[in-house]
Amino acid sequence: MSKVAVVTGGIRGIGEAISIGLRDAGYKVVANYMSHDDRAKSFSEKTGIAVAKWDVGDFDACQSHIDQITKDIGPVEILINNAGITRDAPLHKMTHQMWDDVLRVNLTSVFSMSRAVINGMRERGFGRIINISSINGQAGQFGQVNYAAAKAGIVGFTKSLALETASKGITVNAIAPGYIDTEMVQAVEQSILSKIIARIPVGRLGHTQEIARAVRFLVSDDAAFITGSTLTINGGQYMA
Ligand code: CAA
Repeated sequence: MSKVAVVTGGIRGIGEAISIGLRDAGYKVVANYMSHDDRAKSFSEKTGIAVAKWDVGDFDACQSHIDQITKDIGPVEILINNAGITRDAPLHKMTHQMWDDVLRVNLTSVFSMSRAVINGMRERGFGRIINISSINGQAGQFGQVNYAAAKAGIVGFTKSLALETASKGITVNAIAPGYIDTEMVQAVEQSILSKIIARIPVGRLGHTQEIARAVRFLVSDDAAFITGSTLTINGGQYMA
């Protein structure tokens, strides 16, 4: 029977490519989303991938939706924590709200979603959790103390949970994408973005499928000995 995979933020950007990549590899995918109902509907019609709307920053919603998916589709064996937002501003202009929103959606969600699936994975003796970090959590980025802190926090979370679950057949890894051709990156002011692209040795933005292919590998049986790692995929922009 095919394994069930949940991808948070799974209908747009990197998450969309991950959802489609896992579907193509034979997994039963549920793509979570938070806004953009029309996009979710057309994504689901086009791809045949189930979509489910909830706020991954809400602990109780994560638990109840995982319970529902388990009942309706099957136990969640693969979790891709991809959902993320930006609220960029230099610290001297950043509000408490901008800090809280980014930490809640980008980091607390990783706790809440992992907490919702971990007991089932432990009982079954199998699981794959992949957390999408960022180059900006590794290198820092002007205007992103909130985002960089959340993305760096994901790496510590990943290593700690990997230690706790290694003997249970569960692997936990992070991927740190660089600048990928998504709506989030395209929202950066063009003059700033061209300076960033000029610093990418490969000379271009990454493609979402280049992250999705790494996810497919890390969830496969071939990657059973890889846990607690952070895979850097950034065209050489920062060598961690
Ligand atoms: N490095 C150094 N100086 C910079 C700078 C940088 N990257 N960016 C701006 N500055 C300087 C400006 O030249 C300007 O200097 P002067 O005051 O001397 O003219 C000053 O900082 C501007 O500062 P402000 O306080 O006015 O900043 P701002 O309110 O205009 O906000 C910003 C700036 C919106 C944060 C802008 O810097 C920005 O968009 N930065 C890029 C953020 C970014 O890369 N976000 C990534 C989003 S995609 C993503 O996050 C995905 C992923 O994982 C990679």
